[in-house]
Amino acid sequence: MTQAIALSYALHQLATVVWVGGMFFAHMALRPVVSSVLEPPLRLPLMLGVLRRFFRWVWLSIALLWGTGLWIFLGGMGGKAGGHVHLMMAIALVMTALFVYLWFVPFRHLKAAVASTAWPAAGARLARIRQIILTNLILGLITAVAGAAGRFF
Ligand code: HEM
Repeated sequence: MTQAIALSYALHQLATVVWVGGMFFAHMALRPVVSSVLEPPLRLPLMLGVLRRFFRWVWLSIALLWGTGLWIFLGGMGGKAGGHVHLMMAIALVMTALFVYLWFVPFRHLKAAVASTAWPAAGARLARIRQIILTNLILGLITAVAGAAGRFF
């Protein structure tokens, strides 16, 4: 049991690193440079390719966060947890919903717009995706702090 909980904490932490760290890199480093250096016909297919690869890892991270999080909560804590865990679950629910929306709506439209070289439409979709990623980045950073430091309060 202890080993299963230890493994769950490790996977939970790794999933956090992948999802939140990936959003940080995409938003803070990749996007500003790509936007200032590349024109839309190069920039939009590049960003689509980057996001396509990253989002596969986000799906895996979400599955791991919920699977391991519930396992720690129910198995390790017997369902009795501090407010920080409830806060984490609530924010994770919002983040997951935002990602599912992003995947099925603006990202699907971005793929179609890039395929038909409709650059203004693709640019608008990418701008929407950027807003959602920024929101999830802020929420993800708050959640990571709650998960790591919340137990001390
Ligand atoms: C965006 C989603 C999430 C992020 C970024 C996140 C982040 C974290 C982090 C950084 C920790 C500390 C891990 C450590 O110290 O090694 C943690 C702990 C934990 N998380 Fe999450 N988490 C998320 C979602 C969830 C979900 C969905 C659940 C439950 C369903 C959950 C339940 C827990 C529990 C029970 C702990 C242990 C808290 C403690 O020991 O006091 N988390 N989380």
